[in-house]
Amino acid sequence: AGGRALRLLPGRLRAHGARLGSVGTAEAAEDTEVNTRKKTFTEVQTERLEQAERTVLIKCPSRLNEKKLLQYLSSHGKINSHFFFENRGIHALVEFSEKSSVASLQDIVGIPKAAEHHVVPFKSRLFTFTLKNPVTKAAQETPVHLSPQSHIPVNELIQKLYRADSISSQMYILLNEYQLTEENTKLRFLACSLVQDFARAYFPDSTVKPFGSSVNTFGKLGCDVDMFLDFHDTQEHATQMKKGPFEMEYQMKRLPSERLATQKILSVIGDCLDNFGPGCMSIQKILNARCPLVKFAHQPTGFQCDLSVSNSIAIKSSELLYIYGNLDSRVRALVFSLRCWARVHGLTNSVPGTWITNFSLTMMVMFFLQKRSPPIIPTLDQLKELADEKDKHIIGGNDCSFVSDLSKINPTKNTETLDELLCDFFEYFGNFDFRKNSLNLRRGKEVNKPESSPLYIWNPFEQDLNISKNVNQPQLEKFVAMARESAWILQKEDRTQRMINKEPWGLAALLTPFGKSNPNKMRRTKGLGSETIRSLLDSLKLSNASNLQKAVGK
Ligand code: CTP
Ligand code: MG
Repeated sequence: AGGRALRLLPGRLRAHGARLGSVGTAEAAEDTEVNTRKKTFTEVQTERLEQAERTVLIKCPSRLNEKKLLQYLSSHGKINSHFFFENRGIHALVEFSEKSSVASLQDIVGIPKAAEHHVVPFKSRLFTFTLKNPVTKAAQETPVHLSPQSHIPVNELIQKLYRADSISSQMYILLNEYQLTEENTKLRFLACSLVQDFARAYFPDSTVKPFGSSVNTFGKLGCDVDMFLDFHDTQEHATQMKKGPFEMEYQMKRLPSERLATQKILSVIGDCLDNFGPGCMSIQKILNARCPLVKFAHQPTGFQCDLSVSNSIAIKSSELLYIYGNLDSRVRALVFSLRCWARVHGLTNSVPGTWITNFSLTMMVMFFLQKRSPPIIPTLDQLKELADEKDKHIIGGNDCSFVSDLSKINPTKNTETLDELLCDFFEYFGNFDFRKNSLNLRRGKEVNKPESSPLYIWNPFEQDLNISKNVNQPQLEKFVAMARESAWILQKEDRTQRMINKEPWGLAALLTPFGKSNPNKMRRTKGLGSETIRSLLDSLKLSNASNLQKAVGK
């Protein structure tokens, strides 16, 4: 059914109905599209963080009278929105319209008896709903609607793709299935807000905010929540108050480096979550990484979380991607399809290693879109030219200024279809001179590689950093081989014949491991198969070699 509406929507118009995934049907997208001003990244962040502070999470019994629950809660104040989801039992996320309602609810609820549980006196926003007299009438227990928090498996997705009528609509189907929903986004901000309650026990002026794919418009259901502890407001306060004769000693020892301060802060917050954080499990402190972090599973929301301390550059790159993701609907559709393609073929992986990361792949797509003629998205230098006074940001000596108001950016004149763009992406990177050139998104140009990393993508804000430094030669070669193979499939396939034969076509063919969809094709891809195996072996050899090195301590 989605197919019809999808076909009606010209690429550019679909831009932001899907943004932050507002429940995500094509029809909904169509209605909200026209002439609504798009919010800036900061506006969205501020609004969602504030909503999350008025929100509670309630564990519900499996048989539930929704009306009764809402009736109880309403006695504490007006409810703005709520939804149910499954996560080891049914939970309800409830957003009140006033923050005081949360306190009101906290004040009347029972606290586990000290004799049974040795409680730490900390009031959380996690509740359990139980009725003393279980409702007897089955009629009162209408099954509640459960909002899905994960996407369908790839094989189910492929089934849906058969029914589309073009590659472009296949790509929008994938986008609508995988993108974050409004509900999932609320849950992500709630997870941050619950961690913030803890952080504030130590650092009353701190804030915990999400960054990365939870907020940059490229997150898919199920991805981790990257969050950071922000003391920015405190710093601003400090500079404002410089005038009088007093200088305040912070409630912290002076430390010789920012890195050491970061490690100490993360260490105590990590211990705090580990000892007292309700539902915070498997806490891992990774403090010696380039960007120190604490990893943990947040069971009440079901998210895997990475907590770090404010990294202004990473936030700027989240904002930059947010802008790109909102400028033209083809941007997100292309990125989602390529991320899925890369995952299916083992080019990306959920564990860190020598493979391309989703972040690097996204930057490669952005670079490709800057290079179209006419370009589909502007270069970072062009966005900088549009910046006004309040957009000016210098971070650690790097100029990170760019325009925040989306309406100042002229829409592209490019009318290429996603069918063309997908095929050209594979052709472009299948033939890219990676040995000589690097990708520079600030200028939207290839430039000579400054050093010999196999894949060099300039960090747009820290000009001497390569965001894909981790990628080794075999992994890059595998990427190139897969890109060439994919371009070949798209150019050569006889779509009508494939549709008649009920074989995967278009995007579905690209998401089926090569060599499996059609026995005839297997013969042809034999050469590639062995090449893929060779590069896999190479990468194994390499990782064994480095393990060996570690083992012998060299
Ligand atoms: N980041 C960066 N430089 C890197 C890696 C990451 O600046 N070399 C920043 C980016 O802003 C990125 C964020 O850290 O968005 C989070 O990194 P990561 O979780 O690896 O990427 P995501 O964009 O969140 O993608 P994924 O869905 O794979 O988590
Ligand atoms: Mg992430």
